[in-house]
Amino acid sequence: KCFKKVDSCFQRKFGTSTAATKTDAPNKKYTIDSKDGNKSFYTVQEEKIEQAERSVLISCPAKTNEKKFLNYLSRHGDINKCFFYESYGTYAVVEFSNKESLVSLHEGTAIPSINHEATVPFKSRLLSLRNTGPVDMSNGQSAPQCQPQTTIHINDLIQRLSKENSIDQQISSLTETYQLTEENVCLRFLVCSLLKDIAAAYFPECTIRPFGSSVNGFGKLGCDLDMFLDLDGISGRNLKRPKAGLSLEYQTKRSASERACTQSILSVIGECVDQFGPGCVGVQKILQARCPLVRFAHQPSGFQCDLTANNRVAMKSSELLYLYGGLDRRVRCLVFSVRCWARAHSITSSIPGAWISNFSLTVMVLFFLQRRTIPILPTLDHLKELAGPLDKSVIEGNDCTFVSDVTKIQLQDNTETLEQLLQEFFEFYSTFAFNRMSINIRKGREQNKPEVSPLHIQNPFEPALNVSKNVNGTQLERFVALCRESAWMLQQREFNVPHSGSGTGNNAPWGLAALLMPSVSQVAGVKGRKKRKREPASERIKGLLESLKNREVKS
Ligand code: CTP
Ligand code: MG
Repeated sequence: KCFKKVDSCFQRKFGTSTAATKTDAPNKKYTIDSKDGNKSFYTVQEEKIEQAERSVLISCPAKTNEKKFLNYLSRHGDINKCFFYESYGTYAVVEFSNKESLVSLHEGTAIPSINHEATVPFKSRLLSLRNTGPVDMSNGQSAPQCQPQTTIHINDLIQRLSKENSIDQQISSLTETYQLTEENVCLRFLVCSLLKDIAAAYFPECTIRPFGSSVNGFGKLGCDLDMFLDLDGISGRNLKRPKAGLSLEYQTKRSASERACTQSILSVIGECVDQFGPGCVGVQKILQARCPLVRFAHQPSGFQCDLTANNRVAMKSSELLYLYGGLDRRVRCLVFSVRCWARAHSITSSIPGAWISNFSLTVMVLFFLQRRTIPILPTLDHLKELAGPLDKSVIEGNDCTFVSDVTKIQLQDNTETLEQLLQEFFEFYSTFAFNRMSINIRKGREQNKPEVSPLHIQNPFEPALNVSKNVNGTQLERFVALCRESAWMLQQREFNVPHSGSGTGNNAPWGLAALLMPSVSQVAGVKGRKKRKREPASERIKGLLESLKNREVKS
């Protein structure tokens, strides 16, 4: 189809090829061989924000003829990119070459008149394609090809992985299956841009930026959309006043604190989103949280959205994670596998609670990779030493400086395979002194715990904060027990070699696929796994081994 090409630069940048694990050249310098060149995180962000501003989101009849659709729209200007997807109906993302096309498009777009109801005449960039005339939009064609925006079910993933020939290939395949697509990233930036149009009613020069897993390289299809209302760019905010003479300044409303100001801005924008934002439903204002936010579902995209403001440190940590994830392809592969494994065993959850979060798990993987005998990742302190004058960043008294020019980073010659790393990850955290030590990626070394929380992971940019303060003792114990069990499983030959039937249709879960199985009794077939009760770990392993041995005998 016209625009289904996935930008290979994204794949290259994040090294998601299924080819066998490459080992890194000795002491290689980091280079990105893609059309992004060595663009910084912010340059890439700015480009995507600008593309989103030239885009519209259109709900289409299921049997839309793509050619006629594009012909019809191109009367407003050249179209750069278009793709379709499904979410309670068929939608198209259309990116024009020039922003001016949107003016023409808006002029030709009507406000609907609906019987017995009234509409808020807010002219957003979320539109519907109507066909009231004699145009045959189906033209004998089936529905347009849709780009997937959600990932496959875990049972299907287990089956897919079981067909691979090595654990390294399983890990690569999992990463490729779960990671965000180029289209999904575009859609995330577009939803931010649509939201910006609402916030711009009050703050015309504001920007809404995605952060967290939507942009840090570790996002899984279907992950939430964390957004940050950035008011820093408002012109005149940091304007220097002349030392002497006349000058003008705006009269402004004052609040008792930065926090109170953020709360009132989010409260008003949240209200607008609720009252005027097409497609935005279930708006909740969670203004008393440590980081105040407005949560809602954006129906046309299917994203669960969290809108925050004044959250620049989180933006910095997204940039740091993005940098770490791009340094070596094994980083993202390992993070995706560990996150998936944790989700499969309910170590993490989509509901907030006393469990370990994906963000904490990611930091734990980064720390583990810094702790290899030959470190795969540099410490944050080292990244700070490499920073240039333009990289200097201090946010609310916290030094968030680190290098943005990745070519300055010298990597070490570690050639461990993904399989070895996964095994070692489980062993590392099976024996980690959680009771005494804190995980610290700034130093790349464990530090004495400054407080009594069961799990202590120092926030990289706010050293006084513990990223995993919410985690209770029971959840940590479950994590450690599961690490032990998984480390043990990977040591057993029965688990870590493909079965003779692999690739021939007899795909008994083995290797990473077996690690994702929540219950032994399903090894023979993944159907009905939800109904089974969890068995004690040792029983689980015994049963799993038995079942694998029987399978070996039979085949
Ligand atoms: N964050 C943080 N400290 C925390 C929790 C979150 O600094 N205790 C920041 C991180 O930059 C994180 C972002 O807020 O990436 C978004 O948080 P969250 O949505 O919980 O994590 P994600 O990394 O987006 O992962 P997920 O896929 O689970 O949404
Ligand atoms: Mg998130």
